[in-house]
Amino acid sequence: MSTTAVRPPASDEETLDGRALRARSMRLLGSLVRPVARAVWGTALLVVGSQVALVAGPALVAYGIDSALPALRGGDARPLWFAAGGYLVAALLGGLLTAATVRTSARVSQSILLDLRRRVFRHTQRLDLEFHERYTSGRIISRQTSDLDALRELLDGGITTLATSTLAMLLTGVSLALLDWRSGLVLLVAVVPGALVTRWFQLRSVVLYRASRTAVARVIVRFVETMTGIRAVQAFRREPATAATYDGLAEDYRANTARSIRINGVFDSSLTLIGNVTVAVVLLLGGLRVLDGGLDVGVLVAAVLYARRFFAPLRDIGMVYNSFQSATAALEKLAGLLGHEPSVPDPVHPVPLRDVRGDVRFDGVEFGYGDGPTVLPRLDLHVPAGQVVALVGETGAGKSTVAKLLARFYDVRAGAVLVDGIDVREADPADLRRSLVMVTQEAYLFSGSVAANIALGRPDATREEIEAAARAVGVHELVASLPDGYDTEVDKRGGRLSAGQRQLVSFARAFLADPAVLILDEATSALDVPGEALVQEGLRTLLAGRTAVVIAHRLSTVMGADRVLVVDAGRVVEDGSPAQLVAAGGRFAALHDEWQRSIASS
Ligand SMILES: Nc1ncnc2c1ncn2[C@@H]1O[C@H](COP(=O)(O)OP(=O)(O)O)[C@@H](O)[C@H]1O
Ligand SMILES: [Mg+2]
Repeated sequence: MSTTAVRPPASDEETLDGRALRARSMRLLGSLVRPVARAVWGTALLVVGSQVALVAGPALVAYGIDSALPALRGGDARPLWFAAGGYLVAALLGGLLTAATVRTSARVSQSILLDLRRRVFRHTQRLDLEFHERYTSGRIISRQTSDLDALRELLDGGITTLATSTLAMLLTGVSLALLDWRSGLVLLVAVVPGALVTRWFQLRSVVLYRASRTAVARVIVRFVETMTGIRAVQAFRREPATAATYDGLAEDYRANTARSIRINGVFDSSLTLIGNVTVAVVLLLGGLRVLDGGLDVGVLVAAVLYARRFFAPLRDIGMVYNSFQSATAALEKLAGLLGHEPSVPDPVHPVPLRDVRGDVRFDGVEFGYGDGPTVLPRLDLHVPAGQVVALVGETGAGKSTVAKLLARFYDVRAGAVLVDGIDVREADPADLRRSLVMVTQEAYLFSGSVAANIALGRPDATREEIEAAARAVGVHELVASLPDGYDTEVDKRGGRLSAGQRQLVSFARAFLADPAVLILDEATSALDVPGEALVQEGLRTLLAGRTAVVIAHRLSTVMGADRVLVVDAGRVVEDGSPAQLVAAGGRFAALHDEWQRSIASS
C-alpha cells in the first residue's frame, strides 16, 4: 500500500522548447506513416514516373522539328511517326501516372487521417477530468476539426504537389540545360527574382496565414462557448453583447483572409510576369541564334516550351507553403494533446477487485485541484461495508471533492483512498468502475432509447432486467407512459425528459449496474416534493445492501442515513448517527432545525 503519490509533471506545451516540440511531432508523424510506408514509396515512384513522362514532351517536339521533318522531306515518314507517337504515349503515360498518384496518395492520406482522428478521440476520452476542466471544449473541438483539417489539406494533395512541382522544375531545368545550355542560363538568371518573390510571399503569408488561423480558431471557440452556455446567455439577455463580440472576431477573420488573398494575387501575377519575360528573352536570344544558324528551330521551340513550364510549379510550391506551415502547427498541437498523460494513470500492475464488500477508507488524504490550494487538508474516514453515509455542509465545503476522490476522478496528493483495503490507484480500473458508481446532479442521457440509457453500465442487460431496475427505483410507470415506452428516443422532441425524470432514469441505471459502492452527489436535487414518497422508496431500494455516500440537501434523505458527516473546509467536524447529532446540539442540529422550519413554513 502506498501512502504517498508522486505526481508526474504535467506534460504541457509551455514546458517544451522548439526542438522537443518538433521531435514530438516527428515521432507522431513517423508512427502515422509507418503502417502505410509501402504505399508512400509507391506514390513516390509514381510521381517520378509521371514527371519523367511529361518532361519528355518538348524534347520529342524538338526531335520532330529538327530531325523528323527533314527526314520527311527526304521521303522517310517513320521518324515523324515516331516523334508524334512518342509524344502521344508520353502524354498518355504522364496522365495515367498522375491519376494513379492522386489515387494512391489519397489512400495514404485518408488512412493516416483516420488513424489520427481515432487516436485523438480515444485519447481525449481517456484523459482525466482535470484535463477536461482546463482544456476548454472549444480547444478540444479545434483539435478534432480545424487541426485535422489543416493536416488533411496538406496530405490531400499538398505533399504530392510539393514533390511533383519540385521534381517538375528540376527535370525541366535539367532538360533545358542539356538541350541548350545558353537558354538554360537564361532560366538560371530568371530563377533569382522568382526565388526572391517566392521567399517574400512565404514570409508575408506565414504571418497572415497564422493570424487567419488564430482568427478562425477564435471564431470557433467563441461560437462553441456561447452555444454551450446558451441558457445563461438567454437568461441574462447577453445576446447583443455576445453577438457584438462575435461580430468583431468574424470581422477580424474576414480582414485577415482578405489580406492573404491580396498577397496571393501579387505573388501570382509577379511569377506570371517573370515567366513571360523569361519566355520572351529565351525566344529573342534563341531567335537571333537561329538567324546565325547557331540554333535549330526545334530546339528553340522546345526551349520556349520548357521556359513556359518552369514557373508554374514555383507558384504551386509557394501556395503549398502555407498549408505546410499550418499543418506543422496543427501536428504540434495534436502531438501535444496525444502526449498529454492522464494525471489519473492506469496502474502498472492492476490489482483485481472481486466480490467487493464495499469497505471504504480515506487514509490521511490530502488533496487540492491541480496546483491549486489545498481543499482537503487531511481526511481520515472509515465507512464499513453496507453503511449509508450522508455528507452535509455548506457549498464549497468539499463534499463533492470527497465523492470524486472516492470514484477516482482525481488522485490524492498524499495518503490513499482504499476500497476493501486496496488502493484505488492500484485497483484494476475496469473492476473499480464496476464496483463503484457515482450518480451526479447532471444525470446525463445519451442520444438513444431510454432502455439503452438505463443499460449504460451493463449493455448486455435483458429488457426484463432493465424493466426490473426501472420498477425498483419507481420510474417504470413514467417510462411506460412515454410514446414508445422503453424505446422512446430521449433526444427527440416530445421524448425529452425533465431534469427530475432524467435523475430517476440515472437511478435505474445505477441500480442495474449494481455496484458495491454507490455515490450520490446531489442526485436528488431536481426531484420535486410531490414525488417525495416515491423517490424515498426508490432511493431506499437503490441503497439497500450497498455502501453509499450520499450528498443531499433533503432532510428526509439525510435522516434516513446510518451516519451523518458534517464537512467544513475539507474537515469532518461532526460524525454520528442523525439522532445522535441532533441530540448533541451542534451544527447538524442547527441545520436540522432550519430544515424543519422551512418545511413547516412551505
Ligand atoms: N474542478 C475544480 N477545480 C478547482 N477547484 C475546485 C474544483 N472543484 C471544486 N473546487 C474547489 O474545491 C472546494 C470544494 O468544492 P466542492 O467539493 O465542490 O464543494 P461542495 O461539493 O461541498 O460544494 C471549493 O473551494 C471549490 O472552489
Ligand atoms: Mg458539490
